[in-house]
Amino acid sequence: MALFSPRRAPAPAVDMSRLPRHVAVIMDGNGRWAKRRGLPRTAGHAAGAETFRTIATYCRDIGIKYFTVYAFSTENWKRPAEEVSAIMGLLNQYLREAIEKMERDRIRLHFWGDLTPLAPELQALCRETGRISEGYDGMEVNVCLNYGGRDEILRAARALAAECSAGLRCPEELGEADLSAHLWSRDVPDPDLVIRPSGELRVSNFLLWQSAYAEYYFTDVLWPDFSKAEMDRALAAYQSRSRRYGGVDGR
Ligand code: FPP
Repeated sequence: MALFSPRRAPAPAVDMSRLPRHVAVIMDGNGRWAKRRGLPRTAGHAAGAETFRTIATYCRDIGIKYFTVYAFSTENWKRPAEEVSAIMGLLNQYLREAIEKMERDRIRLHFWGDLTPLAPELQALCRETGRISEGYDGMEVNVCLNYGGRDEILRAARALAAECSAGLRCPEELGEADLSAHLWSRDVPDPDLVIRPSGELRVSNFLLWQSAYAEYYFTDVLWPDFSKAEMDRALAAYQSRSRRYGGVDGR
């Protein structure tokens, strides 16, 4: 049982035939989880990485096709060097382990964000894991790394502007699909469900363009305590919603 968490009601039943195709998670609350235990923040990130493994595996087992996590934002460089280095170390460790498991599980691994400020060794590992998983047909895991939603949209706008000034495109003819095609997420359907644990009610620059019509699930549970039962609660909440995309559903 999770320490310091309020007792939770039993997880509701999930209709496995109506799962979201794409689930995205802001893995928040690692620092508070560690602080409550008198541990360094880095211990919270290590516990958060373990939760990532548990929940990614659960998503794969139940048949979710796309799982995207916010691992490090363009703003997270402001954290103490020791904490940044611990997060990069955990990613390094995860990618090394993933190489062994990806083939067995046919997992596709992609990275969304500008990887160039990362250590050359980590960049190489990201490229290598991405290359190995090309052509696999299992769940796709997208790790947002040095990622920011505004940065992503700005880069896409710059690329379109360059194409227009080179005479390759006409600004009046550009549509939403043209901008989507220049995002890190190109070829991936928009998230259906975005989960933010830890009690914060913010979007924090995560998938700003892609989550225009996503359903949000907020919970006070801290990410290291986020369990399969909590995932079921998020999925059941998603299934209880009526997605109208600005239209009406006749209720
Ligand atoms: C936010 O919690 C968490 C992060 C900025 C880092 C998340 C990174 C990992 C879990 C590392 C490994 C990732 C993978 C994919 C293996 P916070 O530190 O802001 O928590 P707080 O709000 O309680 O301080």
